[in-house]
Amino acid sequence: MTFMVTLVTSIDTLLGNMLNKNTVFLDETALTTSYFPQEILFRKKQLKKIADHFKSLFRKEKNIQSHLVLVGNSGTGKTLVAKTFGKSITVFAKRHHINVTYLHIDCSQHRSSYELMNHVMRQLVKWFPKRGLSTAEIIEKLHHILMIRKLHLIMTLDDVELLIHSDPEILYQLVRFWEANQQHHHNHGFHLILITKKLQILEQLDSSTLSSLHKNIIIFDNYDETELISILQARVKKAFIPGTIKKDSLLFLTRQWKFHQGNCKLLLETLRISGIIASQNGQQFITPEIIQEVMKMTKQKLYINSSLIKSLKFQELLVFYSIVKKSTNGKTPLTTREIKKKYEETCHQMRVTPLKYTRFWEIIQELARRGLIKKKIDVKKDPRNARRRKRGRTTYITLSFPRSTWKELERELFQLIF
Ligand SMILES: Nc1ncnc2c1ncn2[C@@H]1O[C@H](COP(=O)(O)OP(=O)(O)O)[C@@H](O)[C@H]1O
Ligand SMILES: [Mg+2]
Repeated sequence: MTFMVTLVTSIDTLLGNMLNKNTVFLDETALTTSYFPQEILFRKKQLKKIADHFKSLFRKEKNIQSHLVLVGNSGTGKTLVAKTFGKSITVFAKRHHINVTYLHIDCSQHRSSYELMNHVMRQLVKWFPKRGLSTAEIIEKLHHILMIRKLHLIMTLDDVELLIHSDPEILYQLVRFWEANQQHHHNHGFHLILITKKLQILEQLDSSTLSSLHKNIIIFDNYDETELISILQARVKKAFIPGTIKKDSLLFLTRQWKFHQGNCKLLLETLRISGIIASQNGQQFITPEIIQEVMKMTKQKLYINSSLIKSLKFQELLVFYSIVKKSTNGKTPLTTREIKKKYEETCHQMRVTPLKYTRFWEIIQELARRGLIKKKIDVKKDPRNARRRKRGRTTYITLSFPRSTWKELERELFQLIF
């Protein structure tokens, strides 16, 4: 499947190259996150730890100890390492006649344990009905499937903090499910890999799970400059016509981004956009000037998590857009009344009926849970009484993104809505 995708995208690039003579690319996809590099550099220790964790599967031992947690900043290779491990273990297990399925779940796409479990089931059972079962019933069904298929399901929850934002119960439910499966035979099981940028999310777990987890944390340190250069050089070879980018320009790029703590994703994206600009300008080389120009643009995008925004439902987008629009017009923080007014205007423009206050308020809560906005409640003190009174409470809303990104955010939302 992946081979087919790679093949099709390479053909795409080839055709694109033929149409567009001025291109510096051999294969632009080599700079995207969906690309699997031939070699993962500097992450042998982490890959080995993950493999060690699962070796009891192949020794037919019962009881794999607890879950695995991969922690590190953005762009430190967590997703790449987990997916690569998932591919290898599936192949290896097949060879050893053990039934293993690896599911990699991008949590920005699911907002509740219900949605998530439905998605999981549909990956396992093609005919699984879209509605009708509760989360508990779905989990029960999953248990049954693992048992009758003698299946080990390894489920990775990538960027798990996003899911926890919207459904704090989820980890507890999944851990309970894992515990239930631990009682059973070695020939099937449920194994959880959590990927997160922040370890603090685990504090929500009960103390016994938490203490067992501490042994299973795998840290992804930030790459240093030389590591970044090696990773980039390997990609540059795949992506660009030889000679497009000189070592000096690469050094320039990694130095500039140093303060972004070794985020490989940003560097690769900067290279990709630089390549597009050089091609459009009919230039054969990616110069430090182009890189500098692109960095200005990418910095704006840096804080905007596109997949999170794209996963918003339509009415949520409208409310969020109204907050952004009002903020870029210079008003911040905003009261809910001001937002509601702007939201109604937006609905009017779109010819859709605005939601009633209760639903509107639920959306505000959801946006805050997802970390897109911040809520601050101001309780006015009664001067005659030192005690705080409930009356006079006003909620103030601000965007969670730096001000320099608001215009770009507005543009992105505008494209999604209109
Ligand atoms: N060690 C590495 N070797 C090769 N490519 C890497 C390495 N680490 C990261 N990358 C690349 O950098 C980008 C970001 O990695 P990713 O796994 O998405 O980071 P994270 O999930 O930690 O945010 C991807 O394109 C990935 O292929
Ligand atoms: Mg990732």
